[in-house]
Amino acid sequence: MAKLLASIKGIQGYVPDYILTNAELEKMVDTTDDWITTRTGVNERHILKEPGMATSDLGKVMVERLLEKTGTAPEEIELLICCTVTGDMRFPDTASAICYKVGIKNAFSYDINAACSGFLFGLTTASKFIESGTHKKIIVVGVDMMSSIIDYTDRATCIIFGDGGGAVLLEPDDSGNGIIDSVLHVDGAGREFLHMKAGGSLRPPSHETIDRKEHYVYQDGKPVFKAAINGMVDTIQEIIKRNHLTLDDINWLVPHQANIRIINGVAEMLDFPKEKVMINIQKYGNTTSGTIPLCLWEWESKLKKGDNLLLSAFGGGFTWGTSYLKWAY
Ligand code: COA
Repeated sequence: MAKLLASIKGIQGYVPDYILTNAELEKMVDTTDDWITTRTGVNERHILKEPGMATSDLGKVMVERLLEKTGTAPEEIELLICCTVTGDMRFPDTASAICYKVGIKNAFSYDINAACSGFLFGLTTASKFIESGTHKKIIVVGVDMMSSIIDYTDRATCIIFGDGGGAVLLEPDDSGNGIIDSVLHVDGAGREFLHMKAGGSLRPPSHETIDRKEHYVYQDGKPVFKAAINGMVDTIQEIIKRNHLTLDDINWLVPHQANIRIINGVAEMLDFPKEKVMINIQKYGNTTSGTIPLCLWEWESKLKKGDNLLLSAFGGGFTWGTSYLKWAY
């Protein structure tokens, strides 16, 4: 019997219906389809437009479909972690709103805010509850409604982000398949390059913060770009080394979908074959905590039991890291 691991037993993605195309953005800001496509790789992104709907409503759909798909009753879930930077409210958390909306009544829950690395931080944290033997059914949701914090007059950011994400069901597995290792890092010095200036305790909302458009994503793209490639490559190399693997052993690289040039840069620096890299940024843009589960969901039918996957991300904080797992079904 192998060591008890947390394994993914089901995955469900979801994006809202409305599609914001590059052609539509061309009418909103001074940009072109060609600039967006070549600089970012994004052709379109999905946006939640319905009034009164929020991040927990996206999470609700994912979790309901995941429970149905895996034949799991809401009462069986013991813990739900929601990874997001666009929670419904400043407080309380969005995880408890999802539990309430889905009818999960026997769980505790909490949010993790690690920006684009959120899903990896959540997955790693959840796996420890399973490995310790205290919990048997955990849901990790990676979801963001980035449109709620994007300034659609700022051409540097509005072209990148979209809404959506996915949820996974984790259960114990003693067959050797599951989440094997993670290398995760933070560096708070990076927060000056990617953040939302106001709305927190540092700069509470005021007329001034609204006039200065400080309730939107601020990004200095170049330093983020450079640090993202280095952070992802370093942690991939570290995890490969300490698990006595070679890159040939890896069936799929699942990178955070921040920018096609970041993804290509990582693959090129590692000399990793492009056809084994999951890429769907062209359809969804950067959904922050949502990109990695959205990829896993889209590739689900191609994944085989025992496949070696590397999940790698970089995001605001800075936060970054790589997880190594063996697919379990
Ligand atoms: N359309 C047309 N031109 C644009 C534009 C747009 N949407 N956005 C910026 N530009 C212009 C700039 O104003 C600048 O013009 P200038 O040379 O006259 O000053 C020029 O294009 C180059 O801008 P720059 O910011 O240097 O472009 P870039 O190549 O760095 O690409 C990003 C910008 C944001 C796409 C890129 O830096 C990036 O992807 N960074 C990482 C972002 C990321 O992934 N963040 C998510 C968290 S991991």
